[in-house]
Amino acid sequence: MNNRSIGIFDSGLGGLTCVSEMHKLAPRENIIYFGDTARVPYGTRSRETILEYAAQDIALISDKDVKVVIAACGTVSSALGDSVPCDLPFFGVVYPAANAAVRMTRNHIIGITGTPATVKSGAYERAIGNGSTYRCVSVACPLFVPMVENGITDPRDTVVRSMVERYLAPIKEHGADTVILGCTHYPHLEEAIREYMGDDVVLVSSGAAAASEALAFLGETNALTDREQEGSIICYTTDSPEMFYDNAHRFIGDIPMTVKKITVEQLVGKDH
Ligand code: DGL
Repeated sequence: MNNRSIGIFDSGLGGLTCVSEMHKLAPRENIIYFGDTARVPYGTRSRETILEYAAQDIALISDKDVKVVIAACGTVSSALGDSVPCDLPFFGVVYPAANAAVRMTRNHIIGITGTPATVKSGAYERAIGNGSTYRCVSVACPLFVPMVENGITDPRDTVVRSMVERYLAPIKEHGADTVILGCTHYPHLEEAIREYMGDDVVLVSSGAAAASEALAFLGETNALTDREQEGSIICYTTDSPEMFYDNAHRFIGDIPMTVKKITVEQLVGKDH
């Protein structure tokens, strides 16, 4: 048994898809979340910058007395690959989402959506083993993150519908029966994506897949909490806590949470 918190981070609000799944599956766990909303998006930046930000984020979250760190960010996970600057048990989203997609696909055609950096890295294809048993169709969706961060997710909105169609069309044309939402922001657009792709297509939330794998690990290593009451969720953000709070509730509903501000200077200066 281990009553320390579960640490989860992302460039912004996307990792909340991992938080909400974690809270649903293990409501008594305490969660510490960090969203670098002042510097989002990461996915249109160079690999060097993403690695620099990732190291700062990992240092911050590791400092919060956590028992595991989850990079609930496809961009960070695919840039890091297997070399992770973290002394604690660490989970990214790439392997959990790839494993889930391989389990779910029936026709072995898997669509991959992600930020430009993620798609360029080829990390999901490598994790799936593109070319042998499985065929991957990958598309970068650079405008999805700013849309989500600004709350533009309503499936009735014509901008949302046309962007979903524009990005997802190649995946639909290739007949994929499973689509990895390889950026953790994208499940916030799930309704619109589901409407466009159709109900038969399985959508894999990378953040939710990472939550399940991390929880399985905590179970296997006897590191789950024995707390009786509901766990707390404490969020840190580099931009406005009020904006974070409002958007967070719009996306993941009424889960109680406390939001605190940390400045980029504190983050970079490691003065947590
Ligand atoms: N949520 C992120 C991801 O999973 C990051 C998006 C971004 O910052 O561009 O890739």
